[in-house]
Amino acid sequence: MTRKVDDKVHIIGRPPDDDPRTRWDARYARGEGPRKESPHAWLVHHLWRVRPGLALDIACGMGRDSIWLARHGFRVHAVDISGVALRQARRRARRAGVADRIAFVVADLTRFALPKARYDLIIGFSYWEPSLLPALREAVRPGGFIIYETFNVWWRYTRSDVNEAYLVPPGGMRAWLQDWHIWAYREIGSDHPSTVGRKAVSSIVAQKPRQ
Ligand SMILES: C[S@@+](CC[C@H](N)C(=O)[O-])C[C@H]1O[C@@H](n2cnc3c(N)ncnc32)[C@H](O)[C@@H]1O
Repeated sequence: MTRKVDDKVHIIGRPPDDDPRTRWDARYARGEGPRKESPHAWLVHHLWRVRPGLALDIACGMGRDSIWLARHGFRVHAVDISGVALRQARRRARRAGVADRIAFVVADLTRFALPKARYDLIIGFSYWEPSLLPALREAVRPGGFIIYETFNVWWRYTRSDVNEAYLVPPGGMRAWLQDWHIWAYREIGSDHPSTVGRKAVSSIVAQKPRQ
């Protein structure tokens, strides 16, 4: 990326505070990252379909869902770009007595080579990076699951500062996994004024074909 500062000065590459790691570390250090400890309801409601095995939690933040998976018999790879968030997540996991079931990995998922056909379950909450979607599909083993929920385009009526590139377009989550078995799917939100201020998310539970 090249940005022009004035006629003589150009910045090549990302300046530090534009870097997602710096930005997310600073947010978590200020106590502004997501801090909830309870797992997402979408995960709680649908996990019964998945037999415990190896799970990947992408952009896991402070580990609310990883810890819950570990409590329910999964081994978990919990990946996030922020070391500050993962330090907190590890502390929480120790307190919950499940630290030995979770491997915390500080990594930028946009530069991380995910293994192929490895996971029984991949979960993702409040993170949507379109360039990552094909690799996530491939990382699930045949018969394995994706349970996912994140903000969709209608969220911009509530939060005009969010970057639309990271919001799910209408039908986008279903289109991503359209050749899998879709057990549950929903899109909450619209541009109707009555929905402004409410959470606008797309959610899916899908299983990869076994063959
Ligand atoms: C809104 S938070 C969601 C955290 C967690 N899934 C939850 O729901 O509590 C988004 C997370 O994405 C992480 N993140 C952002 N860009 C990332 C990247 N390129 N690679 C890995 N993690 C990233 C941030 O550090 C942050 O923890």
